[in-house]
Amino acid sequence: MDIAVIGSNMVDLITYTNTMPKAGETLEAEDFALGCGGKGANQAVAAAKLGADVMMVSKVGEDLFAENTVKNLQQYGVDTRFVSVAPGTSSGVAPIFVDDQSQNRILIIKGANAQLSPADIDAAAEDLRRCKLLVLQLEIPLPTVYYAIDFARQHGISLILNPAPAVAELDIDYACQCDFFMPNETELEILTGLPVSSEEEVLRAGQMLLGRGLKNLIITLGSRGSVWMRDDAVHRVSPTPVNAVDTSGAGDAFIGCFAHFLVQHGDVAQAMQSASAYAACSVTGRGTQRSYPDADTFHRFLND
Ligand code: RIB
Ligand code: NA
Repeated sequence: MDIAVIGSNMVDLITYTNTMPKAGETLEAEDFALGCGGKGANQAVAAAKLGADVMMVSKVGEDLFAENTVKNLQQYGVDTRFVSVAPGTSSGVAPIFVDDQSQNRILIIKGANAQLSPADIDAAAEDLRRCKLLVLQLEIPLPTVYYAIDFARQHGISLILNPAPAVAELDIDYACQCDFFMPNETELEILTGLPVSSEEEVLRAGQMLLGRGLKNLIITLGSRGSVWMRDDAVHRVSPTPVNAVDTSGAGDAFIGCFAHFLVQHGDVAQAMQSASAYAACSVTGRGTQRSYPDADTFHRFLND
């Protein structure tokens, strides 16, 4: 196995609308789409679509969404032996609102994801130990995230932590133990408590984390590209310009693709470059996972 994602899955309920109802008001929206999402599953699917061997440790609810979620992961070749049902819970769901500026607003209801525990990591330990890279986000309980960080360190496995969505209670010293910490700028602001409105400020907030012992910080800046900081070095990756229609899940596309190429050839700057193009390609299509290109489509996108 190349990559293990220990994380969330959600059912995305995407409404396309430019206006939100006020209290007591009913409004008609333009369009709706149901999709498979969740930051963990999105990242797993992105890597799998590119050809990585991926396993997931995740929880689904005891409801009609569960079977579809597992089938969806399997369809992309993700190993679901450690995706289990949390009895008496609903699956995670994410009502998402996308406007015609392609901006998204996301609410998450964690449901079963809130039940993913250290015991689930123990249950998968033998398989996890054989992975080259673990990938984590913050849609599961923090104690499970810390347990996974300890596990990776104990077994010498590389680890990416994508602190999304940002949780102010995240223990920064724990987070700084991972090999790659990958927030977007909003998450960086919440987690460091420092402003990020200019590049100078972003770098200053980044320096604060490096000062706490972090090895590699990769900050995604949306349509402004991404930045890799380590020691005294700063490496910038410029964005791939596209006409965006739906940016939902673009950050996850970046992380999943980055994970895949990092495992493939270990070249961080090149993996960022690919991830940036992959995320750009994903925003040209509606939805999250369904908009992620497979290896062939991505190849064509790069050569266009
Ligand atoms: O990052 C995008 C994802 O956030 C969506 O798929 C939604 O499920 C939420 O987890
Ligand atoms: Na998209």
